[in-house]
Parts: sequence; structure tokens; C-alpha cells
Amino acid sequence: MYILGIETSCDETGVAIYHSKQGLIQHGLYSQIAMHNKYGGIVPELASRDHIRKLIPLIDECLHKSHLNKSDIQGIAYTAGPGLIGALLVGAATAKSLAWTWGIPAIGIHHMEGHLLAPMLEESPPDFPFVALLVSGGHTLLVEVTDIGQYQLLGESLDDAAGEAFDKVAKMLGLAYPGGPLLSKLAEQGQAGRFTFPRPMTDRPGLDFSFSGLKTFAMNTLSASQKTPQDKADIARAFQQATAETLAIKCKRALKQTGLKRLIVAGGVSANTQIRQTLTKMANKEGAEIFFPRPEFCTDNGAMIAYAGCQHLLTQQSETLSINAKPRWPIDELYQTPKVNQLSSPANKR
Ligand code: KG4
Ligand code: ZN
Repeated sequence: MYILGIETSCDETGVAIYHSKQGLIQHGLYSQIAMHNKYGGIVPELASRDHIRKLIPLIDECLHKSHLNKSDIQGIAYTAGPGLIGALLVGAATAKSLAWTWGIPAIGIHHMEGHLLAPMLEESPPDFPFVALLVSGGHTLLVEVTDIGQYQLLGESLDDAAGEAFDKVAKMLGLAYPGGPLLSKLAEQGQAGRFTFPRPMTDRPGLDFSFSGLKTFAMNTLSASQKTPQDKADIARAFQQATAETLAIKCKRALKQTGLKRLIVAGGVSANTQIRQTLTKMANKEGAEIFFPRPEFCTDNGAMIAYAGCQHLLTQQSETLSINAKPRWPIDELYQTPKVNQLSSPANKR
């Protein structure tokens, strides 16, 4: 079964074709970063318009490159939320219109479920069950995953997401948008140990995160410095190290709490080399396996949506023709249908 995947939740237009038996056939991505760069962040209306411009040509290109016709496609998966409402609507309306025209089903996918399943696209995918750390620009989540569609939220960020903190600290340091990858590059020039940042919420039990304090700490450290290029690089290094170690402490706790020995890490921030190294070191020490998507599938892409959609369509899930887009969609609300086991937040999650 060939599934077309469409991702338009933010500033990347992603399209992919996934086959239920052969795996990933083709994927294409158009990034809007250059367009938003001059505004220092995403301009939602420009994002929607650009998705309209790029989506159909990208679908055509993917079909052409994979030597497939539209009649070969048997289902369409699109990101239904969370994300920018206008951007989501472009993907949802396109997916539903094509599905109606081609006479095939379309299914809306939760963006974070896409990230969560992205390591499944790799050559050696993890077996279930596992703990998932999802670190993106909008979310920081720890989830216990028993199977496709069986997710239990263990912890989440109470304020800024990890990627959001990276982007805001990067902005303070004078870096362009999106700052995460640029901050990481700057940190390479930084001197280790010059500044020590806190490891927020690690001195008390629980699996929730808070990153806004790290951001304030970075701002105060910068204000008290001479703001030289070396000062900035040292702050970038200390911030990145504190984030990486905080994530590692919480992941170690989540593995202990669940008794699981398998961790997957996904979402844009999981492309960060220091975070990958710190988490790998922790997992090795704990005797746990660790899995990451390849860097291009850490950030937003159509392949993860096509994969997730394929798994759900294989279990005969379907939707009406109405166009679904949910700018806010807590992952707890996923699959609150009798079809799949409910995803619930445990009462003692903090
Ligand atoms: O998953 P993603 O592509 O989009 C969302 O779902 O939000 O994540 C984007 C986030 C941005 O905050 C970006 O700065 C961050 O991931 N990011 C990184 C790196 N690459 C992307 N942060 C730190 N280091 C990186 N190498
Ligand atoms: Zn994302």
C-alpha cells in the first residue's frame, strides 16, 4: 500500500511516499527558513501562502521521482495539528481534496506522533516498548510507548520547549532564526567550565521540564559579561551542556520509572550532536539501547507523517471528509476513541 504523507504544520513543506512493505520510497522538503529569516521568526501568513505555492509541485515531484502515478496512491496522511492554523489548513485541505478526487482515505496525524515514530524509518528500528523523548520547537515530552497508538505521557515542559529555549538564547546571542543549529555551532568555540548553568527541576522528583529559567540565566550571564565573541561562545556552550544534561537526567529517571531499557529521541533538537552524545553516554551506562532518526528526519519532514499514516490506515482507521486542523492538540487527547487504547497522563506524573 502506497501512502502519501504531507507535513505543513510550521515552516517546512514536507512530502513523502511510504510503502507498507517496501518502506520509504521518496521524500522531498522545501524549507521556508530563508523567507522568514529577515523577520527573525516565522510569519504565519507568509508560511501558509508558501505552503500553497510549494505543496502541489512537491507532490508531483515525489510521484515523478518514484515513477508512480496518482492511481498508485492508496491513502493520504497529513499533519492535522498541533501547529500554525493557516499552515495546517493548507495541508489538511489539500489532503482531503486529493483523497476525495482519487477516491481513497485520508487520515490526520498528530505532529508529535510523527516525530515519535521517525526512528522507525531507519534500517534498525527499535522494538516496542520504549521511552520516547520528543524535543522540538514547540514541545518537550517524555512518553511511554507500548505500541503504535499506545502512548502514555510521563512528563512535559511546564514552560518553554527545549527548541524554543535554544532559539531564544540564540537570538540573545545575536544569531539568526532558527537559532538552535547556529547556537550549537557557536558552542563548539566555547570554553567548557567557564560558566555553570543550573539543571532545572532535577533536584526534585518527577519527569516534567522547565527551560525558561535557563533562558533567564543566559540573559543575566550575558548582561554581566563584556559580550565579546568568546563570552557568547562560552554562554552557548554552558547553555547547551545544561540542556543536554537535564534531558539525560530526566530520561534516566523515565527508564528507571518504567523499567524499560530502550530510549528513542526525536524532534528537531535531537539533531544536536552534544545532546546525542550526552544521551548516548547515559544510555550506555544504564545498559539501555538508544535510537535516533537520521538528522534530516529529526526536524520536520513528510516521511514521518507518511509512516504514521500508513500504520493507522493499515488498521482500517478512517475519517469523514470534513477538514481537520487543530492548532492546539495535547498529545493526551490522541486516540480517545474506542479503537486504540487511551493515552492518559498518570495522576502521579509529577
Ligand atoms: O521538530 P522541529 O523541526 O519543529 C517543531 O516541531 O517545532 O524542531 C525545530 C526546533 C527549532 O527550535 C530548532 O532550533 C531546533 O529544533 N533544532 C536544534 C538543532 N536543529 C534543530 N536545536 C539544537 N541543535 C540543533 N542541531
Ligand atoms: Zn516538529
